[in-house]
Amino acid sequence: MMMKPLVLFLLQLLMSSCLVMVDCFGPCELDRVVQLPGQPPVMFQQYSGYITVDEKKQKSLFYYFAEAEFDPFSKPLVLWLNGGPGCSSLGVGAFSENGPFRPNGQVLIRNEHSWNTEANMLYLEAPIGVGFPYAADSSAYDGVTDLITARDNLAFLQKWFLKFPQYKNRSLFITGESYAGHYIPQLAELMLQHNKKEYLFNLKGLALGNPVLEFATDFNSRAEFFWSHGLISDTTYKMFTSTCNYSRYVSEYYRGSVSAPCSRVMTQVSTETSKFVDKYDVTLDVCISSIDVCVEDETVNYLNRVDVQMALHARLVGVRRWSVCSK
Ligand SMILES: *[C@@H]1O[C@H](CO)[C@@H](O)[C@H](O)[C@H]1NC(C)=O
Ligand SMILES: *[C@@H]1O[C@H](CO)[C@@H](O)[C@H](O)[C@H]1NC(C)=O
Repeated sequence: MMMKPLVLFLLQLLMSSCLVMVDCFGPCELDRVVQLPGQPPVMFQQYSGYITVDEKKQKSLFYYFAEAEFDPFSKPLVLWLNGGPGCSSLGVGAFSENGPFRPNGQVLIRNEHSWNTEANMLYLEAPIGVGFPYAADSSAYDGVTDLITARDNLAFLQKWFLKFPQYKNRSLFITGESYAGHYIPQLAELMLQHNKKEYLFNLKGLALGNPVLEFATDFNSRAEFFWSHGLISDTTYKMFTSTCNYSRYVSEYYRGSVSAPCSRVMTQVSTETSKFVDKYDVTLDVCISSIDVCVEDETVNYLNRVDVQMALHARLVGVRRWSVCSK
C-alpha cells in the first residue's frame, strides 16, 4: 500500500522533469548556452548565437533565447525588440528589463519579473552595427533603412525556425518599446504578406510600449508630461508649447542647427528639470557612474567580458567593444 503512491510520485517526477529537459534536438543544440558566467542555477534552457540573414554580404544578426521556465511547450513565443534606432535588445531588453537575469558585479542575479515565467523569450539584436551583429561586407552598413531592417528581421525569423523547428507555428507575439514602435508593425506587415504566399508565422498579436508612432504627437507630449509632474513652471510650459515645441527642437537637432529660440527654451527646460531626474522615468535618479553603478554600466561590463562572449557564442567584428546603443 505504501509503495504505490511512491512509485506514482516517482513516475510523475520523471515525467515532469522530462518536460523540462526535452527541448532541443538538432541544429539548436549548437547554440545552447551551457552556463553564463556567474549565473545562478535555473530550470530553463538558454540559447544564443548568430543567424546569417544575407549570405552574399555575410550579414549576421544575433539572438538570445530564454525558454519559458516551466513547460515551454505550452507557452507562446515572444519576440522582443528594443528601439533607438540602434539600441540593443540583448543589453536593454534581456539584461536590463524583462529577461531572466541582471548583471550585478561579477555575477548574474535573477529577475523575479522575468517574462520567461510566461513565455519563450526571443531577444533579437538588430540591425547590423548594433551590439554583436555584423556584416563581413562593409557596404552592407551604408544606408540601413527601416525597410531593410524589417526584411532582415523577417529573414532572421525564417532561418531561426530552421534551427528551432519545434517553435514553428507556435503562437507568436512581437513586443518592444520606443523605436520598435516602427520596427514591430513593419515586421508584422511583412509576416502577413509572407503568410499569404506561404503560411509560416502564427502571429497572434503585437505589444508596443512607449512607442514612437507619430513624431509630433509623441515628442510634444513631453511638455505636458514635465509640467503635469511639476518639473517645469507654467511660464516654461507655455514657451515649450508655443515658442519652440519638442518636435521642432528634435528635428532642428537632427538637422544639426538648433535655432536661438529653441536653444533658449531647451536650456530653460533642462535647468528646471535638472540633470538628476531621469527623463524616461521621472521617479528615478539619473545614473551618474561616479556616484553609483547602475544596470546599464553593469550590462556593458558584463557583455564585454571575454568569458561571457564565449558562453553566448558571440564575437566582436568591426568594433572593439559591445555597446548598448550604436551611433
Ligand atoms: C498553426 O496553428 C494554428 C492554431 O494556432 C492552427 O489553426 C493551424 O492549422 C496551424 N497551422 C499549421 C500549418 O500547422
Ligand atoms: C510644433 O512646432 C511645429 C514647428 O513650429 C509646428 O508646425 C507644430 O504645429 C507644433 N506642434 C504643436 C503640437 O504645437
